[in-house]
Amino acid sequence: MKELMLKPTIYKYATAGEFAEEFQIGEGDLVITNEYIYQPFFGELDLKCDTLFQEKYGAGEPSDDMVEAMYKDINGPHKRIIAIGGGTVIDISKIFALKNISPVLDLYDGKLEIEKDKELVLVPTTCGTGSEVTNIAILALNSRGTKKGLAVDEMYADSAVLVPELLSGLPFKFFATSSIDALIHAVESSLSPKATDTTKMFGYQAIRMILNGYKKIAEEGPDARKPLLEDFLVASNYAGIAFGNAGCAAVHALSYPLGATFHVPHGESNYAIFTGVMKNYMELKTDGEIAVLNQFIAEILGCDSSEVYEELEKLLNHLIQKKALHEYGMTEEQIEEFTDSVLENQGRLMANNFVELDRNRIIKIYKELF
Ligand SMILES: [Fe+2]
Repeated sequence: MKELMLKPTIYKYATAGEFAEEFQIGEGDLVITNEYIYQPFFGELDLKCDTLFQEKYGAGEPSDDMVEAMYKDINGPHKRIIAIGGGTVIDISKIFALKNISPVLDLYDGKLEIEKDKELVLVPTTCGTGSEVTNIAILALNSRGTKKGLAVDEMYADSAVLVPELLSGLPFKFFATSSIDALIHAVESSLSPKATDTTKMFGYQAIRMILNGYKKIAEEGPDARKPLLEDFLVASNYAGIAFGNAGCAAVHALSYPLGATFHVPHGESNYAIFTGVMKNYMELKTDGEIAVLNQFIAEILGCDSSEVYEELEKLLNHLIQKKALHEYGMTEEQIEEFTDSVLENQGRLMANNFVELDRNRIIKIYKELF
């Protein structure tokens, strides 16, 4: 059994300036980023690279339409793609390291030859996706109303660079949704049948760092996150290493139709599904890794392991309020539709479930969360 695969070399710099200097950013580089990140941190460095500002191609999470529009505007050739941004920028940039990209639907359907022809440097500016160390790019396929992941080794970065300074302007809401996503990566990957002792070491450490940070925020308020941003960035990276190897599972799978249909931020739609899936796992199997995990979380939260999901929700509600699915606009008819979409499109994730969840069980979870 494969214990751990980690492709990128991981770097950490205190400031954007140090990173730009060490990486000699300049001619031949395409920096894919957002203007509100690039200007304050890199603007005065007067770098000779090309830049592409993702927000000019649409708001929100990455989609096939966004990739096509950006692709039309790129004037190469470039030797290196440097992504500096949140999940959208990072996922899209992985695709741009490939040679054959368009039509992107064909790429996602496995009809294009996968060939990497540019060096790839990924610099996250949120503390959630862990995408800088995975080979997965998730896109909303607008014409199909769902999200789909493409995972190929050619999309691993050559370098993943952690620069805590870049998180200093991250608004609380984005901090909250992205770090909850990281927490769920750590939990889902630790329960996955593909988890190993090594992936769990990263997963459990990420859970500890994130929950301890949340406890401080619950006690002292949102500003308590500021001195902890480096911890959260590292935790997100650890969670990325864990799920890049062991995979995510049903929480992500069931959250995708919700996120894609109602444009709910990824971390928030995951949170809406999270404890619903965990409680159903527990109805099916109470021993094994889930018992270890619940005990681990209970010790951090200072509660009994039987009340761990309730206590977890109380803590997470200090960051974002959990909502029922109908509050996002979901209708009862969509329970079956979403279930079918999960079964049809999310097999890659559903294979990593702690215990098997069949059609009736998925319907039951959606109903309980409705
Ligand atoms: Fe995620």
